[in-house]
Amino acid sequence: MPVSRREIHMRKRYDTIVIGGGIIGTSIAYHLAKAEKKTAVFESGEVGKKATSAAAGMLGAHAECDKPGTFFEFARASQKAYQRLTGELKDISGIDIRRHDGGILKLAFSESDREHLMQMAALDSVEWLEADEVYKLEPHAGNRILGANFIRDDVHVEPAAVCRAFARGARMLGADIFEYTPVLSIESEAGAVRVITASGTAEAEHAVIASGVWSGAFFKQIGIDKRFYPVKGECLSVWNDGIPLTRTLYHDHCYIVPRHSGKLVVGATMKPGDWNEQPELGGIEELIGKAKAMLPEIESMKIDQCWAGLRPETGDGNPYIGRHPENDRILFAAGHFRNGILLAPATGEMMADMILGNPVKTEWIEAFKAERKEAVHR
Ligand code: FAD
Ligand code: GLY
Repeated sequence: MPVSRREIHMRKRYDTIVIGGGIIGTSIAYHLAKAEKKTAVFESGEVGKKATSAAAGMLGAHAECDKPGTFFEFARASQKAYQRLTGELKDISGIDIRRHDGGILKLAFSESDREHLMQMAALDSVEWLEADEVYKLEPHAGNRILGANFIRDDVHVEPAAVCRAFARGARMLGADIFEYTPVLSIESEAGAVRVITASGTAEAEHAVIASGVWSGAFFKQIGIDKRFYPVKGECLSVWNDGIPLTRTLYHDHCYIVPRHSGKLVVGATMKPGDWNEQPELGGIEELIGKAKAMLPEIESMKIDQCWAGLRPETGDGNPYIGRHPENDRILFAAGHFRNGILLAPATGEMMADMILGNPVKTEWIEAFKAERKEAVHR
């Protein structure tokens, strides 16, 4: 159970306070608690209920990155960390993160799709399949495909379960998780950071801003001139009436993800600049059209639910993960855009290493620091 608000006053000093209880904040708390650091998470609502719960849960290092580079290496490291975490989180928290091993089929419907997908062959673990080979794997895939890239390693998990497992794991290891405790401001003074919440003030050696798309207000307070932009994503889920589908089907930012429960998750629209977290009919209609091209039988499946969430985008599409350039007590990990579920383990580990003074790859520090030179993305 989360700690009650009154108890904030019982322990006023922490090693680290994490602001935000999405998958990024809870992963950081878990990795710090594992290193025996006294950690608190302050979450304005309930743990994992914002972008994290909206996500499909694909660990799409290849499907989402497309080309080699530092981001891909970081994503691969995080994807591999899930192999270890699946059992570790089950042991410590009792929660199964519902890892699903089918991989992703990135479909080609046109010659330009095929050309684009062929370029992905530069990445490890990507295999081009002609249409007849695709139908052997997934006989119900749409009949107009030319082929697909099969990415075995791009498995998926259930994001809300991962976040709950990180949070419960962190608690079992001694962390405090305060829900319904919005942080109002961060103040830095000699020897500590003060975190002022709606329910009281706490102090720590370090504070980490991990508030997703809502991190901008804190960046402003600490004098870092970077913004976060919402990119709303709408999804729906249906009950699969019994056709076999083992692999995620993916095309043109749309995907059909088969869950262990028998549900298929269909996502997701991309609506930049929209702060409204409600799904809209137009977005759902767009998804249904794209989903029917990939899996015609989906037309007769029963609707389960529709939802939406806000991806936290930055100026160049890469997250800010690092330390304040002039105040080493303040750190941040936000702006994971389309890949926060994938990147949560590596982000948690990198933040913990920075705080503990362990070595961190220089390329990762340089790629994700806030004061980097950003290539224009938006
Ligand atoms: P959030 O989950 O939004 O958490 C931030 C938390 O901070 C919230 O709980 C919020 O309440 C809290 N907070 C805000 N302000 C304050 C405050 N003042 N005080 C205290 N707490 C505060 N990623 C993948 O890797 N794979 C996918 O398949 C995938 N699919 C997606 C599909 C959709 C439709 C969407 C919208 C996103 C998807 N993503 C996916 C992206 C992923 O969901 C995000 O990158 C990730 O959830 C970001 O995590 P976060 O913890 O930074 O943000
Ligand atoms: N990574 C999938 C999405 O953001 O929709």
